[in-house]
Amino acid sequence: MCGIVGYIGYREAWPIVLKGLKRLEYRGYDSAGIALINDSGQSIYKKAGKVAVLEEFAEHQDRTGTIGMGHTRWATHGVPSDRNSHPHTSNNGKLSIIHNGIIENYATLKEELIGRGHEFKSDTDTEVLIHLIEEIQKIENLDLLEAVRLALNEVSGAYAIVIMDKDHPDQLIAARKGSPMVIGVGKGEYFIASDATPIIEYTKNVIYLKDGEIALVTREDLLVKQLDNIVQTPLIQELELKLEMLEKGGFEHFMLKEIYEQPRSIKDCMRGRIYPAEGKVQLGGIKEFAEKLKNIDRIIIVACGTSWHAGLVGEYLIEEYARIPVEVEYASEFRYRNPIITEKDVVIAISQSGETADTMAAIEMAKERGATIFGICNVAGASIPRLTHAGVYTHAGPEIGVASTKAFTAQVTVLTLMAFYMAQQKGTITASKMIELLTELDHIPEKIQKALESNDIIKEVAEKIKDSRNCLFLGRGSGFPVALEGALKLKEISYIHAEGYPAAEMKHGPIALIDEEMPVVFIATKNSSYEKVISNIQEVKARKGKVIAIVTEGDTEVQKMADYCIEIPDANEAFLPLLATIPLQLLSYHIAVMRGCNVDQPRNLAKSVTVE
Ligand code: AGP
Repeated sequence: MCGIVGYIGYREAWPIVLKGLKRLEYRGYDSAGIALINDSGQSIYKKAGKVAVLEEFAEHQDRTGTIGMGHTRWATHGVPSDRNSHPHTSNNGKLSIIHNGIIENYATLKEELIGRGHEFKSDTDTEVLIHLIEEIQKIENLDLLEAVRLALNEVSGAYAIVIMDKDHPDQLIAARKGSPMVIGVGKGEYFIASDATPIIEYTKNVIYLKDGEIALVTREDLLVKQLDNIVQTPLIQELELKLEMLEKGGFEHFMLKEIYEQPRSIKDCMRGRIYPAEGKVQLGGIKEFAEKLKNIDRIIIVACGTSWHAGLVGEYLIEEYARIPVEVEYASEFRYRNPIITEKDVVIAISQSGETADTMAAIEMAKERGATIFGICNVAGASIPRLTHAGVYTHAGPEIGVASTKAFTAQVTVLTLMAFYMAQQKGTITASKMIELLTELDHIPEKIQKALESNDIIKEVAEKIKDSRNCLFLGRGSGFPVALEGALKLKEISYIHAEGYPAAEMKHGPIALIDEEMPVVFIATKNSSYEKVISNIQEVKARKGKVIAIVTEGDTEVQKMADYCIEIPDANEAFLPLLATIPLQLLSYHIAVMRGCNVDQPRNLAKSVTVE
């Protein structure tokens, strides 16, 4: 996700802001920019690409000034480009802004502002916000702090913003809601950033601005208010964490940080897309195909690895709710087959990176044969979103760990929304059922938070099986792709051989593998196949297998027979893959750490397989 850095004080701002952006590079981004206020007025430099590209671009420009701000952009609205990079300026060019987050109602605001004569230079939601602030300041004749406060009362969404006025080089305005922001307190200087990594080398004294707070920062002081104008007394805390730990948000590895980000990333993924009270799903990215979706023959899902597992979950959901036939294909196989594809097919390509070569090739082939191509991707402006006819971004934020975690659950969330959206178009779900499903889906992030609380028990189980040479993961229904995903996680970061299987398939051969050396992880949650899974557990126990069961909290049946039980909250069967995956991610993580493996960069693997 985006990174922001601001500085006001007695030192030259450029080197502090530039270095701060480099400290935030781990957050993932696709463009960068810096604004300064100096004797020549306001200097703004912004470029698509890495911070180094920006640094080179500004090398011979005016980089003076003791007040400035910088931004690394993770594109959400508008592809990565110079014009869409931050900072953005107001219509009159006086005000500038940097922003991390999403302004959900930017389209409506933009229309109103265009009607008042505003001209926009970018496709971003951020530029709309600074124009709105300018408009309010002009109409109400207000100071900047008050204009920002009133404007923020009109926007919905998430933001961490810093604003400058080139006619007031003695102040920065900062505000946050739903996106992180830290203010570093120095002597005669203040620092603002998305987290403490750009700040910690200058001061350990920080203020964590709270959601819904706005700050006026000068060289001498800062004033903090709530959006309802009540002045706050900010709490100055002393940082204990080391810089390296800070980049991982205090977690030992990026993978663990990303596992724990899932309540937030799934909330971000659903933001502006579900309306439980009305029983409505809105997917702006594919709405121009809403009519077509009413009478397509088939959906073909193409993907690789973890994304392919998400596709299998999608198959269960789309067939169950939208009653559209679905085939899930390994992109690497599909691209070399000679499949029958017609104009009445929709191909959904799933890819976290948006750069996987096999998936791109499968898209090209399907496109040549007339299919409509949708993408589900986590990187705005990546190659795959540019190849597809339409798509839905997962908005999970950058995933640094090679082993995919939050991107997988975000993909499954998007596929759940797509299944409901298609059902909505085809009328295969009643309005009351949709309200019930969306109301429960809206609370899934809280249930995922609850599932994360089993971490200590999971660590104990990891200790028991960390030296195994093999492991089986078994599930039925949508528990089967979850089993596959759990097996892949264990394989790729702990190097233990693991296989996912449909639980019912064991008797057709694999049960020969069972002995006391074989740990078997069952997805044994309360769902339509619960009784059958219990029989499978008994078959394994009868052959001295070691059973670890993911169960619905309060389960007493499986507790009697499994060696270890890990509880997750109860939920509608449609949402169980989102919950049951969490303990499997943590189990593989802890085993890998205990085995001394390189969790974030496992051997032989790349985060994005851009070659065949
Ligand atoms: C999953 O943990 C792996 N990193 C890998 O299987 C990955 O899912 C696969 O390479 C597909 O990548 P993509 O989603 O970026 O296309």
